[in-house]
Parts: sequence; C-alpha cells; structure tokens
Amino acid sequence: MMLGMVFTEFLEMVEQRYSPELADQMLTETPLANNGAYTAVGYYPFEEMQALVATLARLTGSSVPMLIQVYGEHLFQRFVELYPQMLEHCHDAFSLLASVDGHVHQEVHKLYPQAQLPTFETTEHTEQRLVLIYRSSRGLADLAEGLIRGCIGHYGETIRIHREDLPASDGISATRFEMTRA
Ligand code: HEM
Repeated sequence: MMLGMVFTEFLEMVEQRYSPELADQMLTETPLANNGAYTAVGYYPFEEMQALVATLARLTGSSVPMLIQVYGEHLFQRFVELYPQMLEHCHDAFSLLASVDGHVHQEVHKLYPQAQLPTFETTEHTEQRLVLIYRSSRGLADLAEGLIRGCIGHYGETIRIHREDLPASDGISATRFEMTRA
C-alpha cells in the first residue's frame, strides 16, 4: 500500500500542470477501487498509482518515466512546504540527500508507521561527489531522480546526475545515483 499523500499530491500536480478537466478524465478512465477518492493519511494500492500514471501517459502522449520524474520534482517542493522541520538540519543538496535514509525517512516512518520507504545507501560523500544506491521493491528510480532534481533545484545548485541500474535481487531493484558538483 502507498500513503494517500502520494496520490493527493499527484492529482494536484495534474490539475495545476495540465487542468482540472484532465485530472477528472484521468480518474474516470482508470479503473479505481473507490472512484479515486483519496485522503492524504489513507493508504491505497500502489497498482492504482501505476494505473493513474499509465492513463495520464496515454492522455498526454508523455512517457511514464518522464511523468514520474516530473512528479518527483513537484513532490520535493511540496515536502519543503509540508515538512520544513525535516529539512532544517540541512543547508545544501548533498547533506539532505545523504540524510534521507538515516534521518528524513525515519521521521516519516514515525509519522506514518505503515509507509513503505525505500533505502538510500551512501557509498561516497565528499564536497564534490555523492554516490547513493537506491533500493526498493517498487522500482521507483524515476521518482527518486525527480526528488533528487527537486532537491538540487531547491538549493539552487549545479550538480550533474549520472544514473545506472544495478542488478535486482529478490525482487528488490537497485539504482546507483552518482552526483557531481559542476
Ligand atoms: C522532506 C523530505 C521527504 C519526505 C517528507 C519524504 C516522505 C516520503 C513518503 C511519505 C513516502 C511514501 C511512502 C509510502 O507510500 O508508503 C516517500 C517515498 C519515497 N521517497 Fe521520500 N521523502 C522525502 C525526501 C525524499 C528524497 C530527497 C528522496 C530522494 C532521494 C526520496 C525518495 C523516495 C522514494 C523514491 C519514495 C517511493 C517509495 C519507494 O521507492 O519504495 N524521498 N517519501
């Protein structure tokens, strides 16, 4: 299951970026358990999120990975507004990104014990370079990339991202994100 906020923020993004009419059309044209009525604190099947994104891709002609990435960027900006206290300890993109696993998502877990969070292993962290390995059963590396881009944009930094998929194991996909300061 996936936290309702991920759905409500997605619908908001579609309304703002496209139109409320397109958001409605996306909901009506996707088979959904409860007609697309989501609350931010509820939990809904991850498959519904995938189905909504697939419909949006069909309606807009954009690709699913591109839409998920754009959504990640939008979501990071919303996190900044909704959970400023979780970002207080950070002053730049690398310090925030390196603390998602050990701090930010731990705080998220306290608020939403049923949230299914990915892991981000930091394998290298210097002034110039940050290397993170994303692992999740959901394979949302596109969302991760969007969130990373949103984070870099938030701090107004210039950082290059190199992304490489690693072999999956036990149904857990892995993606290596190498970020280098320009
Ligand atoms: C204030 C900052 C953040 C907050 C409040 C936050 C919170 C959350 C929440 C509530 C979920 C949904 C869990 C569920 O559906 O059960 C989530 C998932 C996720 N978060 Fe974060 N997050 C933050 C920052 C980040 C950043 C910077 C990244 C990327 C480096 C990231 C990567 C992800 C990914 C990829 C998922 C999807 C779940 C998965 O891949 O398995 N998050 N996060």
